[in-house]
Order: sequence, then C-alpha cells, then structure tokens
Amino acid sequence: MLFFRREEMKKRKLLLLGFTALTLLFTGCSPKEEQINSGTIRIAYNQATTHPHYQALYKAGEKFEKATDGRFKFLIYPNEVLGDQRATLELIQNGALQMAIVNNAIIENYNKDFSVLGLPYIFDSQEHQEKVFVSGILEPLFESTKKEGFEVMAAYTAGSRNVYMEKPVEKPQDLDGAKIRVMESPTMVAMMKYMGGIGTPMSQGEVYTAIQQGVLDGGENNEITYVDLKHYEVAPYFSRTQHVMIPDLVIGESAYLEKMSESDQKLLREILKESVTEEFDLWNKQIEIAKKTAEEQGVTFVDVNIKPFQNNCLQLHEEAMKDSPFVKKLYKEIREMAE
Ligand code: GCU
Repeated sequence: MLFFRREEMKKRKLLLLGFTALTLLFTGCSPKEEQINSGTIRIAYNQATTHPHYQALYKAGEKFEKATDGRFKFLIYPNEVLGDQRATLELIQNGALQMAIVNNAIIENYNKDFSVLGLPYIFDSQEHQEKVFVSGILEPLFESTKKEGFEVMAAYTAGSRNVYMEKPVEKPQDLDGAKIRVMESPTMVAMMKYMGGIGTPMSQGEVYTAIQQGVLDGGENNEITYVDLKHYEVAPYFSRTQHVMIPDLVIGESAYLEKMSESDQKLLREILKESVTEEFDLWNKQIEIAKKTAEEQGVTFVDVNIKPFQNNCLQLHEEAMKDSPFVKKLYKEIREMAE
C-alpha cells in the first residue's frame, strides 16, 4: 500500500488489537454474528467537534436514532483519538469500527479512480461541487471499494485548499524548491509538482511541528483546519491558490451494513445523503468564522491569479483520464455540471 510506513503499521496493529478487544468486551458479541437490529455505530473522525463534518454527522446520528426508536445510535470519536485517517480506515476493514470520515486522498490508495475527485480545479465552486455530490453520478465510484471491506456513503465538502508558508505565494515560481505538506496520495504529490513545489506526503497531525522545525516550508489546507490546528502560528501567509476542492468521505464497513435489515440500511443511507446538503450549509457559515479568527490572529491573506496554476495542472487531468474510460466518463459528467 502506498505511503504506508513500517513503524506506523506496527503502531496501528497494536491500536487495532486493543480497539477490537474493547469492542468485543463492550458489545459482548462476535463480529460474525448475523442480523444487527440495534447497537452503537462507532465512528472515527480526525478533527474538532465544532467542525461542519462532525456537526452534520452528529445530526445525522440523532435523526437515525430517532427514526429507529433508539435502537441505533452514533458514537463519534473526534480529534484523531483513534489514529490518523489511514489507521481508522484499517479499523473499519477489520470490523473494529463501523464508520469514519476519511479524505478522498486516502481512499485513492485503494482505488485510483477516486483521483478524479481530487483533481486540482475540477470543481469551479461550492455550488458546482454540491450539485455533483447530490446528483447520484458518484454512486458507482462509491460502491467500488466494497471488495476492500468498506463503501462510501456520502461526500462532504472541505472547501478549497490554499497554500500557506512564511511568505506569500503569488505564482508557481514562488513555490520553487519549497517543501509543502500534502495528503498521502499520488495525485496530491503530482498536484504540488505541477503547482511548482515539492509535495511531501504526511498525516495531518505531524504538520505543525514539521513546519516549526523547518522540515517543511509550508502546508496547504482550507481555512477551518488551518485555524483549528493553529498552523497560522508557523505559516502566517495564506495564499488563495484555491487549487483543489477535495472532499471528505463518510465511509461504512460493508459487512456491518449487510447485517442490518434492509429497511434500517436504507434509512441510514438516506439520512446520510440528506446530511450532505446540511454539511454544505454548515460549511458556508463556519468558513466565515475561521477567516475572521485568522485575521484576528494576524494572518495575511494573499490574493492569487490562479490561471497559471490552473494551466500547469491541466496535464494532471489528462494523466488521470488516460488509462480509465470510467474516469474519463465521470470527469466529463462532472465538468458538464459546471455549466
Ligand atoms: C482537511 C480535510 C481532512 C484532512 C485534512 C488534511 O481538513 O477535511 O480530511 O485530514 O485536510 O490535510 O489531512
């Protein structure tokens, strides 16, 4: 598996063993038991409880609990307490967790067709992205990972990502030689190369210290995560490159879902789909608060002419489509929705 390091594998195995043992202790049942009519759906999340993703999912949990007369409830573990997104995805594959929010970049390591959703500048706006997410055209992609033990149940926006460093970035040349942390996927690394910098894959929790210690020159993210993780303290110039609108995906353990009755499963899927619009609304409110906080903390927002970045990244679009008719078709459908 791409970007998976040996010592981390060991750490994650221990975490997995411990968590599985705990799950069995508390639920008192084997993961192989048939038909699940009630229970706690354990969910991993890597950010704060104030984040729009958490809020949207929490509300979905309340709805599901109510709709099933309290038979099911959601238990969301925030702030990366169960490990980073790669680790929590493995917990799902091993049946120790039922759901998680994991970025599209991580899922791309399981099926490279997901790269289409992480192509720089593929979405023109939040409205365009929302239209695509609720359209149903992503269903075949979202079901494609069932053979890996999980499936995508909803896509949440995470706004657009922007580069931040100790200096402004106005053109691709400003990134020359700069080591910029990216999420762990081949598309993210290639994207940063086309943007002019050196993409350094790393998990979110390590970024602050890596910039502080000079291992990295900067990062790239949306305003909410930039502020929540206080990255402005080590990289106070936030340049609006708006280079990618890569979604976060709500994933569920396929075996668990199959054990639910058809009606419960349908209900859960519907409620999660409804939460997509809710999350966009929450996002649009929260992003303004994050921008204000950043300004109060002395962040300099730099306006950027995105055209040169866009042009440089077009080659990556060609590369993503070249080996997959499926991606080519999806790409066309997504772009058509921009008009
Ligand atoms: C965003 C995204 C997360 C991701 C993070 C990152 O905040 O919503 O899913 O983990 O970026 O840069 O790793």
